[in-house]
Amino acid sequence: MNIDGLRSRITGLIGREIFYFDTVDSTNTTASEIAAKTLEGAVVLADSQGRGRGRLGRAWVSPPGVNLYMSIILMPDIRSRDATLITIMSSVACATALRRASGLDILIKWPNDLTVKRRKLGGILTDLKTEENKISLAVLGIGINVNADVERFPEDVKSIATSLKHESGSDYSRTEIAAEVLNELDVWYKILKTMDRDTLLSAWKQLSSTLGREVSAVTSRGVFRGLARDIDGEGLLIMELPTGEIMKISSGDVTLI
Ligand code: BTN
Repeated sequence: MNIDGLRSRITGLIGREIFYFDTVDSTNTTASEIAAKTLEGAVVLADSQGRGRGRLGRAWVSPPGVNLYMSIILMPDIRSRDATLITIMSSVACATALRRASGLDILIKWPNDLTVKRRKLGGILTDLKTEENKISLAVLGIGINVNADVERFPEDVKSIATSLKHESGSDYSRTEIAAEVLNELDVWYKILKTMDRDTLLSAWKQLSSTLGREVSAVTSRGVFRGLARDIDGEGLLIMELPTGEIMKISSGDVTLI
């Protein structure tokens, strides 16, 4: 990657400092470690990760030379109960940037899976620190499969994952993709900070592959099947169960049926 080229393309607060490593365990872990000593908007970027982390305790496959692994340090100072909006904001920014850069029909599966034709192109893992019911630190970890050869992914990931290259047949510049994503995040982070929920939620809804679909949700309270009706003002998924009961999901795994 051309880190100086990336630095020169940054337009706002996000990416004003970039720490680049050939390899780290997890860019989220490194970013959490350095957060107190750096500026808001700083980014930790690595060519590969030894222990890339996904949501729900899963591993994130992070081979060198092909993909993007980056974590952004944010200090949003919003209420803890609005935490899901950080996820909503970042998935809108990533999907918008990647659609523009690739022309692919990239959609968001609740809460923040970036997908193409139902296969996972990228994911976002947000590590939060709260103080007095406010979010003092959010480490936004973004993984995007850019030029990865999906056939080389582990067996269990192969059938559900994809990459920009796999979908379009072309190679992409990781520097360009990183710049697009970071600059778009800058736009949407400002919208989050002003708590313009309507703009955030309506953008997310336009890009959602989940709403209006029959889904199965694996949650800590059990597995539920139903219709994904909407998201609420805090970004929680509103499901209608076959009994007509309305249920809100705050975290877990959602599969389209
Ligand atoms: C998911 O499970 O969908 C979230 C995946 C997040 C992966 C990214 S890669 C950069 C950052 N560092 C990590 O260890 N995880 C995130």
